[in-house]
This record gives sequence, structure tokens and C-alpha cells, in this order.
Amino acid sequence: MTVNTARYDPGWTFVRTHLPAPPARVVEIGCGPDGGFVPALLRAGHRAVGVDPAAPEGEHYERIPFERHERGATVDVIVASTSLHHVGDLGEVLDHAADLLKPGGTIVVIEFAHELFDEATARWCFEHLPEPGEQPGWLHGHRAGWAASGRSWPDYRASWVRAEAMHGGTSILRALDARFSRVQVADRLPYFFPDLAGVEEADEQAAIDADRIQGTGFRYVGERRRRHI
Ligand SMILES: C[S@@+](CC[C@H](N)C(=O)[O-])C[C@H]1O[C@@H](n2cnc3c(N)ncnc32)[C@H](O)[C@@H]1O
Repeated sequence: MTVNTARYDPGWTFVRTHLPAPPARVVEIGCGPDGGFVPALLRAGHRAVGVDPAAPEGEHYERIPFERHERGATVDVIVASTSLHHVGDLGEVLDHAADLLKPGGTIVVIEFAHELFDEATARWCFEHLPEPGEQPGWLHGHRAGWAASGRSWPDYRASWVRAEAMHGGTSILRALDARFSRVQVADRLPYFFPDLAGVEEADEQAAIDADRIQGTGFRYVGERRRRHI
């Protein structure tokens, strides 16, 4: 996987807004191979653990699926950035998150609604891809995969979603709402700009506002209900 640290900067600005004063106990679900927000959380004085089979080695990481993370003490905050659409059993993962979170604790989610990734949005992304370099990114893979498939974009996208068993944005929001109280949701947001060349967040937002593309990103903040059932 190509690591693009630019992806973390706007996300971190959002995540940090929802953190209590340090030292909070924070678990990141699916931190990825470069640790996601864990390094920034540690620098900010929090007690952070990243849980992901692909996590880096080290004392602040557990290289296992989140649902196998041992529930010890409860935590103050759970963060999940573009990981929930990839987990196997979304209900199991979020039940585990609800159990791990202290009553009144916060879950902060950054996500992708694959169902909104339509052909116009795909073409716009593919037109703005950087040169692939040694490690082509996920969008390079889909540009090449779609071209090679000879299929329509909706057919290609459906087979990709099936092959990766990806959860859609609507399902993720429904599953979150079933377990947490909504504090804040923002949808139809820019998502692709960190992977594109010469495209800032504001450029993607302008294309969304002009109806040239779909806003496929969304952000959710929830609170664990004080009496969890
Ligand atoms: C698209 S990557 C996102 C990585 C990182 N959060 C980021 O924003 O770049 C999705 C990550 O979710 C992880 N993942 C998938 N299922 C998981 C699970 N059940 N528990 C923990 N992590 C999981 C994958 O290993 C992968 O690293």
C-alpha cells in the first residue's frame, strides 16, 4: 500500500477537535501500516494504541483485527479512519467498540461512501492522478482495472465492492446510529484530494458544489450512550 501522509493532515485537524485534554486513552481501529493517527496522538500526550493486522511493529500497536483486541480498561475515544468500510463483520466491530468505550466516550469516524463513487467522479479522479511511480496507489489500480475490464463503470464498481465485501456509507451510518448517539455528521465531503496531483481539498469541494462530481467522504462523531444496551 502506498502511504500518503497528506491524507492524515485534514483528518487530524478534525480528530483532534474531538479529543479530551491529554492524557486520554485512545484506540484507533485500522490505523494502517504507517500507524494512522497514533504518532500524532502520542505527540499530543495521549495514550494511544493502533489496532490493525497491518499495523507497524511496536508497543503502541496491536497487529490483530480490532474485534480480537482484549477489552481491558475502557477507553475515552475510539478513532476509525477509512477502516470501517473494510472490516468483515461491521456489527461485531462496532459492538466491540461500544463495549470498549466508556459511557459518554466518543467515537470519531472518517469514512467513504462507495455507493456515491459514480462514473463522473471516477473519471474526474483518474484525470487528476499523479504519475504512478514505483508503488501505484489504489486509484491507479482502479483506473487500470476498469480499462482492462471493458465493463461499464457501475458494473466494474459493483464487482470491486463485491470482491472486497465493502460496506457502504449508508450501512456504516446505520450501524453507528444503532450503537451510539450522534453528536455530529457531515457528508458529501471531499475524499480523494490527498491521492490526486495538484488538487487541494477546496478544489474537490468546488467540483462537488458545481455538481461535477459526488462528495463521497463523510465524518461522524458519536457518543456512547450512558446506559449501553
Ligand atoms: C484503507 S486502510 C486505512 C488505513 C488508515 N486508517 C488510513 O487512513 O490510511 C484500511 C485499514 O483497515 C484495516 N482493517 C481491515 N479490517 C480490520 C479489522 N477488522 N480490524 C482492524 N483493522 C482492520 C486494514 O488492514 C487497513 O490497514
